Amino acid sequence: MTSVKSLFSPVEADLQDLTNNLKRLVGARHPILYAAAEHLFGAGGKRLRPAIVLLISRATLPNQAITPQHQRLAEITEMIHTASLVHDDVVDEAEIRRGVPTVNQGFGNRIAVLAGDFLFAQSSWYLANLDNLEVVKLLSEVIMNLAEGEIRQGLNRFDTSLSLEAYLEKSYYKTASLIANSAKAAALLSQVSPTLQENLYFYGRHFGLAFQIVDDILDFTASAEVLGKPAGSDLRSGNLTAPVLFALEEHPCLETLIEREFAQPGDLEQALALVFDSRGIERSRELAAQHAKTAIAYLADLPTSEPQQCLVKLAEYTLSRLY
Ligand code: IPE
Ligand code: IPE
Ligand code: MG
Ligand code: MG
Repeated sequence: MTSVKSLFSPVEADLQDLTNNLKRLVGARHPILYAAAEHLFGAGGKRLRPAIVLLISRATLPNQAITPQHQRLAEITEMIHTASLVHDDVVDEAEIRRGVPTVNQGFGNRIAVLAGDFLFAQSSWYLANLDNLEVVKLLSEVIMNLAEGEIRQGLNRFDTSLSLEAYLEKSYYKTASLIANSAKAAALLSQVSPTLQENLYFYGRHFGLAFQIVDDILDFTASAEVLGKPAGSDLRSGNLTAPVLFALEEHPCLETLIEREFAQPGDLEQALALVFDSRGIERSRELAAQHAKTAIAYLADLPTSEPQQCLVKLAEYTLSRLY
């Protein structure tokens, strides 16, 4: 498997700056909120979203010369992502994230909700300070979308009538919107043509969908060690993702188990077995591959460069996480 780090090489130094800056930007005004936020920044994560912003920045700027605004945009993007994870872990009652205890686990739900709000507020402030109204509009829509996605997911738990379209729309709100809009914002700051800005938005959108579908497959197939978070939790909590939606078409009896919320002993095990006995995982892989391929096609007008090649390979890497 390609290591994701090697695909970040054109922006390695930028990402190092980002790591240092993030801790500083969160500020130390509220020691407990700072400790909570710093806890997750310190644990790292893949830094995929800021890497995409930085690669697009370098691929669209003359001489690949990154500006402080582009660098700040990457930091804001990771801040928004981390805030969404802090809140998501409260909603999901998750105990482990990035291989360390979640903020809710270490500090309690009250602090985790406040720490998430604090990070969203901080990111909005830094966003406003970019002094670019178009960029503010793009990223504030993302923050709305994140909440919308989390609400939709919450309302659709255990609902076996959920369509694949509704699942993909929810995935756009929860995951792809941030990648798509921050990609477009980077292009906008570079003042490239509106068509190229739009293409990069769609690169991010399809990349994000592929990424979420892969994450949903890994929830069935990977171990907790690999994920840095528990596996198998989506189905248990009624979050019906691509593998289950496809499996439902083949095994209608899955519906009964899900609709009674796995109330009887052995229900969850039986449901998992039905998913594995179907073409659900395979069809989900195909769907993810289709979105990764579409993402790459949207890079066609981006002049060839090392960062541009890394953007292509990142879309391929997303799929390689499955093998
Ligand atoms: C986790 O995102 C949330 C999803 C959209 C699946 P990442 O897998 O990028 O999380 P980190 O940042 O590497 O921890
Ligand atoms: C991650 O969502 C959080 C957001 C993208 C807002 P998920 O619940 O799907 O991801 P994991 O499995 O917790 O990382
Ligand atoms: Mg979660
Ligand atoms: Mg999940």
